[in-house]
Amino acid sequence: MPIIIKDLNYVYSPKSPYEKQALKNINLTIEDGDYFGIIGHTGSGKSTLISHLNALTRIQSGSITVDGIDLKPKKLDYKKLRSTVGMVFQYPEYQLFDETVEKDVAFGPKNIKVPEDEIKERVKQAIEMVGLNYEKFKDRSPFELSGGQKRRVALAGVLAMRPKILVLDEPTAGLDPRGKREILELIDSVKSRLCHTVIMISHNMDEIARSCNKIGVMSDGELKCVLPPKELFSRRDLLRELNIKMPIITEFANMLADRGLDVDRGIVSEDELVDAIVKAKSAVGGTQE
Ligand SMILES: Nc1ncnc2c1ncn2[C@@H]1O[C@H](COP(=O)(O)OP(=O)(O)O)[C@@H](O)[C@H]1O
Ligand SMILES: [Mg+2]
Repeated sequence: MPIIIKDLNYVYSPKSPYEKQALKNINLTIEDGDYFGIIGHTGSGKSTLISHLNALTRIQSGSITVDGIDLKPKKLDYKKLRSTVGMVFQYPEYQLFDETVEKDVAFGPKNIKVPEDEIKERVKQAIEMVGLNYEKFKDRSPFELSGGQKRRVALAGVLAMRPKILVLDEPTAGLDPRGKREILELIDSVKSRLCHTVIMISHNMDEIARSCNKIGVMSDGELKCVLPPKELFSRRDLLRELNIKMPIITEFANMLADRGLDVDRGIVSEDELVDAIVKAKSAVGGTQE
C-alpha cells in the first residue's frame, strides 16, 4: 500500500520567538515500488518531512498513512511501524553503540521481541546484505571499523527489522566517490531483495537521477513539484526557478545540444548519453558520405 500524505503542516517551537514553519501544506503519494528522491536546499524541510514517516516527528496537522497504518493517533503500534519503515538518518554511524557488530545489529529486533533464533538469522542476513562477511565481522567492535564499514553496519541494523519501506537521509554524505557508489549499489540490491519502496534525500543530482523514478523538490517548506528525473532535468526554466543544478550527464547532453548535435536535453544516464553520441556521430558521418 502507498504512503499518503495529506495537508501536512509542521511548525517548530510554535508561539515562541523561534517559531518556524518547516512544512507547508504537503500533499504527496509515494507508490509501492517507488524509488523516490527528495531534493531541496538546506533548511527546506526534507528531514522534517521524512522524520514523520516513522513517527519520530508527530503530526501537528494533516494526515499520513503508511502502508495502511494511520500515523495520527497518539497511541501508535510502534512495533508494527518500525517493522514497516526503516529509517537511516544522516551519518547513522554516530548511533552505533554496542560492543560488537552482531549485538549492534541485533538491537532493533531484540527491542521488538523477535525470538532469539530468528534474531540470529536476521542479523546474519542483514550483515551479509550490506556486503560484510558475517563470520569476519560479527565479533568486532563497530568502533574499530572504517567509516564506510560503520555506515554499512548502521544500515544492517535497520535492515534487520526487515522493513518494507527504506528511508535514507543523505546516505552517501561524507563518503569518497567509491564509497558513494558502493552505498548506492547496495541500496539497489536492498531494494530488489527486501525493501520494495525506497525514499532517499540527496544533494547530489547525479545520484538522484541515477537511482530514482520520481523526484520531489522541496523549497522553503513547500513541495514544489514531483516529476520523473528525465522531465525534471529537461525543464531548464523550472531548474532555474527552483535553483537546482542539473546532473553532470544532463549538463553535458545540453552542451552537445547547444552545439547543434541532435541530443535529447533530458538525458540522465551514462548509457543514454553514449547511445545519443553514437547516433549523433553516425548522423554526422552519414552527411559526409
Ligand atoms: N529541532 C528544530 N527546532 C527548530 N527548528 C528546526 C529544528 N529542526 C529543523 N528546524 C528548522 O526547520 C527548517 C527545516 O529543517 P529541515 O527539515 O532540517 O530541513 P532540511 O532537511 O531540508 O535541511 C529549517 O529552517 C530548520 O532550521
Ligand atoms: Mg536535512
